[in-house]
Amino acid sequence: MLLRNWTGAATVPSHGLYPHQWSWDSAFIAIGLRHLSPLRAQRELETLLSAQWGDGRIPHIVFNPSVPLGAYFPSPDFWRSSTAGADAGAPRGVETSGIVQPPVHALAAWLVHQSDPALSRRRGFLARVYPRLAAWHRYLTEHRDLGGHGLAAIVHPWEPGMDNSPCWDAPLERVEPAAPGSFRRADLDHGAPDDRPTDLDYGRYVRLAADYRDGGYRDGGGAVVPGEARGRAHAFAVEDPGVNALLIASEHALTGIATSLGADPAPHRQRARRLTKALVERLWEPEAGQFLCRDLVGDPGDAAGGRLIPERSAAGLLPLLAPGLPREVTSALLRTVRGDHFGLGTRVRLLPSYDLRGHAFDPYRYWRGPAWFNVNWLLERGLRQHGETASADALRASALSAAASSGFAEYLDPYTGRARGTRDFGWTAALALDLLAAAEHAPAPAPDRASMSEKGQKR
Ligand code: SER
Repeated sequence: MLLRNWTGAATVPSHGLYPHQWSWDSAFIAIGLRHLSPLRAQRELETLLSAQWGDGRIPHIVFNPSVPLGAYFPSPDFWRSSTAGADAGAPRGVETSGIVQPPVHALAAWLVHQSDPALSRRRGFLARVYPRLAAWHRYLTEHRDLGGHGLAAIVHPWEPGMDNSPCWDAPLERVEPAAPGSFRRADLDHGAPDDRPTDLDYGRYVRLAADYRDGGYRDGGGAVVPGEARGRAHAFAVEDPGVNALLIASEHALTGIATSLGADPAPHRQRARRLTKALVERLWEPEAGQFLCRDLVGDPGDAAGGRLIPERSAAGLLPLLAPGLPREVTSALLRTVRGDHFGLGTRVRLLPSYDLRGHAFDPYRYWRGPAWFNVNWLLERGLRQHGETASADALRASALSAAASSGFAEYLDPYTGRARGTRDFGWTAALALDLLAAAEHAPAPAPDRASMSEKGQKR
């Protein structure tokens, strides 16, 4: 099915619902594709990076010109990247969106390289992608440091990839929705309304994207003055722990890439350290035992600038992927993963996207509760990184069985494992393949590990 979604230069997440190339989807897809064809995995990332803008941003969608305009909304004639984004360096030969998605690309490039280093060296893969990945990270840490404290901010709820997370409800209240008749949702041609964001949310997504476009996709301009918030130039500006955790993990991957190319890895190591410190200072909430999002717009907020949003999203657990967190932070995160709010190993089959006990929890609706495979893949990696092998093994087994039994669903009801969203979804298949490959190479489980793993799977 992954091969069926290949279009010749890249892979669509789904032929119906998402018929173009998506940024973080492609990174996850490349991670799985490397087990089938390291060459295609390299090309997947190269195609995406060839649409990078002059300011370093990697757009969240690269449009396929052979797909009819009405097949997806917002379509290229909405974003108008090649004209509206000209000052920001949007490419002329390809149409893209103007917003971004989480920076998982350097991690993907490093894993793709490792799957066939000889092919990678022969094609000069790392040498070609490294400057682009470094420019991408500079874009995020310079143009997007809207809070002025070193973290990358998002300016649209689609940017963290978790479109309708309850974390955005309060910040979105301030956004006047676009008029209902001014656009037509194409997603409802392919997805059940109960599984998708509401019309009210869509109106706000459209307004924010149109305003960003009409401002030439500018991020605030000028040099960053530490401590001076620039988030107020946007109606929506949030520091998200998931985006920044992935940036840190990818910055660590850049140290590996730089070293392999004989370049100096020190700047990447330093940036990863700075980001990790800022992540803890700005977004760690000890009472919640997890990281929260920080809203940079609205009332003056707290002394740190902005206000922490009191909603628990799975994004707040993704810093488990960031090496170098204080030990007490890691221990608290691990407790939260297994506790009442997320219930991994006890109440749910896979980690939900949002607090099981949260006022807005909905097991069906997109990012308001359902379990997603990319989040669970990232968590599995984080658990393994911290030596939580039994939990990681149990999560891997659970994700593999859910992926197959759901028809490679886009997401699942976290309690029942029932498929939601579209089927034959690209990253679900790709990441299942990656987990399967890892399981095949893993040593046979010792008896105690096997029994813990069974316990972890019991629902
Ligand atoms: N996830 C959004 C969509 O549903 C935007 O990328 O189209």
